[in-house]
Amino acid sequence: MQASVINIESVRNDFPILKRKVHKDKLLVYLDNAATTQKPIQVIEAISNYYLNYNSNIHRAVHELAEEATAAYETTRDKVAKFINAKNREEIVFVRGTTEAINLVAYAWGRQNVQKDDIIVTTEYEHHSNIVPWQLLVKEKGAKLEYIGVDDNGELILDQLDTYLATGKVKLVTFSQMSNVLGTITKSEEIIKKCHKYNVRVLVDGAQSVPHMKVDLQKLDCDFFAFSAHKMLGPTGVGILWARKELLQEMVPFNGGGDMIREVHKYETTWNDLPYKFEAGTPNIADVIGFAAAIDYLEKIGMDKVREHEVDITKYALEKLSQIKGIKIYGPMNTEKRGGVISFNLGDIHPHDLATIIDEDGVAIRSGHHCAQVLMERLDVSATSRASFYIYNTKEEVDVLIKSLNRAKELFKL
Ligand SMILES: Cc1ncc(COP(=O)(O)O)c(C=O)c1O
Repeated sequence: MQASVINIESVRNDFPILKRKVHKDKLLVYLDNAATTQKPIQVIEAISNYYLNYNSNIHRAVHELAEEATAAYETTRDKVAKFINAKNREEIVFVRGTTEAINLVAYAWGRQNVQKDDIIVTTEYEHHSNIVPWQLLVKEKGAKLEYIGVDDNGELILDQLDTYLATGKVKLVTFSQMSNVLGTITKSEEIIKKCHKYNVRVLVDGAQSVPHMKVDLQKLDCDFFAFSAHKMLGPTGVGILWARKELLQEMVPFNGGGDMIREVHKYETTWNDLPYKFEAGTPNIADVIGFAAAIDYLEKIGMDKVREHEVDITKYALEKLSQIKGIKIYGPMNTEKRGGVISFNLGDIHPHDLATIIDEDGVAIRSGHHCAQVLMERLDVSATSRASFYIYNTKEEVDVLIKSLNRAKELFKL
């Protein structure tokens, strides 16, 4: 195995699934990490330990199991706050994922603060979850949705943001800190500074950034931030909305029900403290507890090393992929400007056919529009193939991908 800043052999041993064979005898080469990552044994055991030993609802009962479950659930909140350097633990709201976090802002903040003719600005490289909630909001309010375009290098055309801000009508600017298709790392701090000069709120979609680089919310200085546990070794069904305390205090609840109330009377209810005001009903206790084990795992490696490993493997993959005749790679080629997500098309092979063929060799990649049809329109394609890396991927696996792509080329006589 080629050298890495991460002890990959030891890391791989923590992921039982990486030992499995697919299509009878092909060792799995899992390169679909932008969709969801695999889970280490530590996360799986944290979840089963909860069910085996202290399964209980949280916050309400006083018995020992409930106290243990509540403590474990709330410990995750502390770990999340530390991981992203949030100022207050009350600013960490558990939700189901990035999608729910963005919808929460669109409903609970957007419906109070966006009026007719106001403008929401998003970008052409957003995931559908950072487009559709805003379309729903602007339709309801008679407001407008505008897009920051993407240039031929896969980067945002930031001059367009200046034009929108100059109208004085922008209420919110939202963007992905790393594109899930192009891998482009957004110049987030520059955008946020510009927006704040105009008193405009900023929501950052961190679904693809938090798992792959150190994110420091106090340095970033945005107003809302969303990400998902399952893209960073954690379980599905858990996500985080971080928002400035004063904004959460002003916002109305998103869902009504148990745990989010202080007192309920026949016709009036008062709200619980933050963050519980936004966590109605029994939450996903087991998976929130499992998420803490994922954070511990990443912190033990160190996010700087996670990034360094990915830069190294992405550089290698870009070099090797570029040597394949007939390939078109999307997004920046400079690894300082991008993460470990590489989208490409090979000749006129349909990405679904390509993914099916290389799956026969055990290589799992993604094909399709990646929930980014606005970007597909901009790139003038209906779909791309996408390989995405994480801490357990090796250069040898990149070699398997390349060999398999060459086999597909031969099959299609390209
Ligand atoms: C950039 C980006 N935003 C949002 C999402 C949605 O995340 P989730 O499905 O976990 O809510 C994804 C998922 O792929 C993503 O890549």
